[in-house]
Amino acid sequence: MIINNICCIGAGYVGGPTMAVIALKCPEINVTIVDKDQNKIDRWNGPFDNLPVYEPGLAEIVEKTRDKNLFFSSDIDLAIQKAEIIFMAVNTPTKKYGKGAGMAADLSHIEACAKRIARVSKNDKIVVEKSTLPVRTAEKIKEILKRESNGISFEVISNPEFLAEGTAINDLFKSDRVLIGGEQTLSGIKAVKSLVSIYEKWIPKEKILETNVWSSELSKLASNAMLAQRISSINSLSALCEKTGADIDELSKAIGMDRRIGSDFLKTSVGFGGSCFKKDILNLVYICKSYGLDEVADYWHQVYHINNYQKNRFARQIIDLKKKRNISSVAILGWAFKKNTNDSRESASINVTKILLNDNLKVFIYDPMVSRNNIINDLKNINSETNIENEIIDSNVFIENSLLDAIEKVDVAAILTEWDEFTKFDWKNYLDNTDKNLNIFDGRNIIDIEHKNIFKLGK
Ligand code: NAD
Ligand code: UGA
Repeated sequence: MIINNICCIGAGYVGGPTMAVIALKCPEINVTIVDKDQNKIDRWNGPFDNLPVYEPGLAEIVEKTRDKNLFFSSDIDLAIQKAEIIFMAVNTPTKKYGKGAGMAADLSHIEACAKRIARVSKNDKIVVEKSTLPVRTAEKIKEILKRESNGISFEVISNPEFLAEGTAINDLFKSDRVLIGGEQTLSGIKAVKSLVSIYEKWIPKEKILETNVWSSELSKLASNAMLAQRISSINSLSALCEKTGADIDELSKAIGMDRRIGSDFLKTSVGFGGSCFKKDILNLVYICKSYGLDEVADYWHQVYHINNYQKNRFARQIIDLKKKRNISSVAILGWAFKKNTNDSRESASINVTKILLNDNLKVFIYDPMVSRNNIINDLKNINSETNIENEIIDSNVFIENSLLDAIEKVDVAAILTEWDEFTKFDWKNYLDNTDKNLNIFDGRNIIDIEHKNIFKLGK
């Protein structure tokens, strides 16, 4: 099939960057990204310094392609009708209600997309699962497409996304692999080839992996679970280091130099955040349980438990200091779940801050990229491990405009995001020249000086 038009439903962290890169690499294809959120579409069509997703290099690509072969629109039906390939890049959060609530993936957005595609399509289409989905979701999507449409043929392909936020553009330009899962039928094979022909424009052929649909769907969940497992493994060892005199950074280096283990994803932290690791692990646990694999489910569940343990452990260390010294305020340095993104979904900062607020501490928060509104919304959102009264948030939370503004006002500073600005800050000079007795809890081990007032993880 010759591809002239692509539609992507979902203009979020995945839909925006992935489609911008496809538009850049395939100038002959018109790419239209649609979303039901009009405000988001308006921002994608607005000033380049205010796009709804911040990723290094993204604004430049959007500037080159927008209104040439990259379009942002809220006319979802028209974009579906024109496209030969439709990507579904909508959110798949943890279910809040019904069967599997708190564990399983909420597929309502995916199902709504499938229904809409079925209802409005006037000719055959290739439907691509870009969202992260439970294994065997393609079966359900096919059922919906068949039931809701009028004799039109749909091929459903799995093509999960592996980009990480903050490095999305580089990850898309130089993907470790592109995974495409399709059915072993004539039309399935043809559909896979159409998708391969797009990625081939910039991804070396040997990095484009063709598998069956279920392997592709499950590989995505398994990859995230294994990445998160490495972080929980190293974080669990950070607690043991603190008891034994071993040093977690030395440990990470020593372990990671074994080629069979590798050095990535062994950096200890206050706990992993982000929109996906937690939800994908819980989803994997739920899937295992639903197949009666309780031991397998328990194994993966532990990755999630250790992450909560690490976040709580970090907050408790600050509260323990409060018992020894009179402290009333803490600076939270960093709100994003990692550096170089404005995304704060499931950031460890949220949980740590709530625990501190519950212990009557005032918090002064500074993040170079996350907006005040986002921070307050994160704290007021009741769907997290710890909840606090809105009145406490209104009276005890202060959003600051700079690192110095924040630390000047407090007894304790806690580094939660590894922003370069915090790494490069001259902590020694500050501590040597201040009259304050400032204690620093480095939840990322980014400060490279030793000082009696600096607490680091796993040391
Ligand atoms: P997101 O919340 O940033 O974006 C999803 C968008 O879909 C939203 O703008 C929402 O308004 C839109 N949407 C939902 N239902 C819709 C509908 N019926 N019609 C039109 N628009 C609709 O989510 P995201 O972070 O881009 O993640 C999308 C998927 O990709 C998830 O399954 C996630 O697990 C997966 N994923 C995310 C990342 C990441 O780094 N964020 C990386 C790899 C995979
Ligand atoms: C992660 C995966 O890395 C991507 O491959 C995947 O596509 C994506 O999830 C997804 O499915 O959403 P992302 O969450 O954007 O990407 O960012 P990561 O770099 O994986 O970081 C996740 C969290 O782990 C962050 O809070 C980060 O600070 C933390 N982390 C990471 C550590 O604590 N230690 C490390 O060594 C690495």
